[in-house]
Amino acid sequence: MKHILITGGAGFIGSHVVRLFVNNYSDYHILNLDALTYAGNLENLKDVEGQPNYTFIKGNICDEDLVKELFSTYRIDGVIHLAAESHVDRSITDPLSFVKTNVYGTLNLLEAAKDSWKGNFEEKLFYHISTDEVYGSLGKEGFFIETTAYDPNSPYSASKASSDHFVRAYHNTYGLPIVVSNCSNNYGSHQFPEKLIPLFINNISNNKPLPVYGKGQNVRDWLYVEDHAKAIDIIFHKGITGDTYNIGGFNEWKNIDLIKVLIKVVDRLLGREEGASEKLITYVKDRAGHDFRYAIDASKLKNELGWEPSLQFEEGIEKTVKWYLENKDWVNNVTSGEYQKYYKEMYE
Ligand code: NAD
Ligand code: TYD
Repeated sequence: MKHILITGGAGFIGSHVVRLFVNNYSDYHILNLDALTYAGNLENLKDVEGQPNYTFIKGNICDEDLVKELFSTYRIDGVIHLAAESHVDRSITDPLSFVKTNVYGTLNLLEAAKDSWKGNFEEKLFYHISTDEVYGSLGKEGFFIETTAYDPNSPYSASKASSDHFVRAYHNTYGLPIVVSNCSNNYGSHQFPEKLIPLFINNISNNKPLPVYGKGQNVRDWLYVEDHAKAIDIIFHKGITGDTYNIGGFNEWKNIDLIKVLIKVVDRLLGREEGASEKLITYVKDRAGHDFRYAIDASKLKNELGWEPSLQFEEGIEKTVKWYLENKDWVNNVTSGEYQKYYKEMYE
């Protein structure tokens, strides 16, 4: 049996990855290491909790002793590293915590993998999950490809760029088997309602203002989270060691147009008049250093490993809006810190 360490598995993308791996690979023992910060929530994984091939460990990826101990106790074969501070706005007000987790935490995991595997790299892999934001900002034209030069602008993207460089440095210097993927913006269930899509769904349904940064003209490329999890599965199993893969939705939206779609879907599902919630749109001060446009060319992943997004955006948005409207308790719990109680009841 292989022992696979997934970090950040209680977060948004991580919980979808943990679920996919626990359900699809009964010959893997999945260890989920997560510090349960404000963004981590074990309620996301209730359905896999009792599975015999799943273990949750509460802990910080920066904890040297803990991470070393995990590698020696479980003889880890593979790492899928998602744990991170992930929100750009928070990185603007608190950049240090981003360096601690995203840079130091990644380095701590790399050190433990290197020391534990001791040059015996057969069947081992350190898979680092990263973002397209490391490439910086595009103008109206063009796409990010795997060889686009790094040019990060926010403290978040700078910390992720740094961690990507360390991962590649461990490959080049010590021969550590690594793979990196850089993905565009994800959406779907279980995303903490501070990011655009869940925040706005929540605010529309509660008749609260929708704070649109600047003029709402910035562009993002959106991918349904389960399609990202599937790409991670394919890259983990078939990716070329040392290589990088870009993952994207081939699905660009100007923020204001996307917001109008959200308004339309939420209003329809709540039986409101079409466009009733457009009055909630409130243009606010732009985000400092706001990247204008992200767009991924994911054709390498498509041509070499056969991955493509499976869900149409309209279908993904419909599912996502329904999930948030039907799971208001989840939204209330994560925003009020209530879910920490769930952890205490289950684990302490
Ligand atoms: P998230 O904020 O929802 O979850 C992060 C998880 O990491 C949480 O469960 C949190 O408790 C955990 N964590 C944070 N600090 C930790 C620490 N020091 N030790 C252990 N656990 C810790 O993030 P997400 O949106 O699911 O993103 C996951 C990964 O994917 C990140 O590396 C992010 O950079 C990357 N990514 C995200 C997106 C996106 O659109 N969300 C796009 C591309 C790449
Ligand atoms: P976000 O979901 O924070 O992802 P990222 O900044 O990593 O792309 O934001 C997506 C886009 O939405 C981005 O251009 C910023 C914008 N935005 C708003 O206009 N208002 C908001 O309240 C938030 C959270 C984001």
